[in-house]
Amino acid sequence: MTGITPAQWVQKELLAGRCLQPVREQAKAYAPANIALSKYWGKREPDFNLPLTGSISISLADHGTHTQLQVIDKPEHEVYLNGARQGADTGFVRQVKAWLALFLPASISLRIDTRNTIPTAAGLASSASGYAALALACNDLCDWHLDYTSLSALARLGSGSASRSLWHGFVKWQAGEADNGHDSVAYALPARWPQLRVGILTVSSAVKAVSSREGMGRTVQTSGLFKQWPAQAKGDMAIIEQAIMDHDFTGLGQTAEQNAMSMHATMQAAWPPLVYWQPESVAAMHQVWGLRQQGVEVYLTMDAGPNLKLLFQAANTATLLQHFPTLEVIQPFPANHS
Ligand code: PMV
Repeated sequence: MTGITPAQWVQKELLAGRCLQPVREQAKAYAPANIALSKYWGKREPDFNLPLTGSISISLADHGTHTQLQVIDKPEHEVYLNGARQGADTGFVRQVKAWLALFLPASISLRIDTRNTIPTAAGLASSASGYAALALACNDLCDWHLDYTSLSALARLGSGSASRSLWHGFVKWQAGEADNGHDSVAYALPARWPQLRVGILTVSSAVKAVSSREGMGRTVQTSGLFKQWPAQAKGDMAIIEQAIMDHDFTGLGQTAEQNAMSMHATMQAAWPPLVYWQPESVAAMHQVWGLRQQGVEVYLTMDAGPNLKLLFQAANTATLLQHFPTLEVIQPFPANHS
């Protein structure tokens, strides 16, 4: 137990001495979405979104969230998602308001315009890029001049995986040990891999019935298989970090795929069982494994949703597009990014 609430920690420690009010009328920011290669699944503390283990992700370059903030003379915040005003009673709006209330006085209202450049139907973790972009925009609106490490902790309070969306490229979120999470922050790994590709394979746009937040909690509480997960997650993370440093694609892909399948196994052993896969997801998995048997080196990973993310190298792009014509191919290290 920390003895303090997240809001007290944010105001007294993270933002100590800084202005808790907007100093300009508007601000905007962008943050990329990210896909975990070794997953964050399970919290050691839910209020601060503190993970049981670390995780490593790859950011999706220009696939992410643009957020624009505007101070408004209204009694309530107004939240827009992809141009559409969101109802005050939706989970999305309630969570955004709760996050803003960590520091913003109730007398201040904002219009929050959040636009995703990732296909919404893909069920990608848009909350990750969403909270990272929101943290960056608030940093500008209130003139905090916080470093990215501090913004990573602030974004984490909205959604755990958002701690990794402040950077492009490979990012590691270290679990940390402190009760208030000041050391549970992410940082960029010093590696580039221009040939690496991530493919988004949208097999079903069925709305997920169980959020990752709820699914994680249910798995930790009820899944017998979850007991072995933290040890595996730690081991996989070390292997993946090394594979990134060595540009060992086989090591990276195999470990990422096995890590994702193991995470899903822990969910499926929860009660009530948690199966994010749709029949189309399983069919696509078999297609990936079939291609691998034919010598095409491609691996899959999945999050709390039915869609697949494929990992492959540039040389196999044409082959993969032949087999998966709707595949959205992302280049995490475009030539114009440093
Ligand atoms: O950040 P959350 O609470 O949406 O959780 C994300 C969980 C996974 O996407 C399944 C794994 C991960 O590390 O991103």
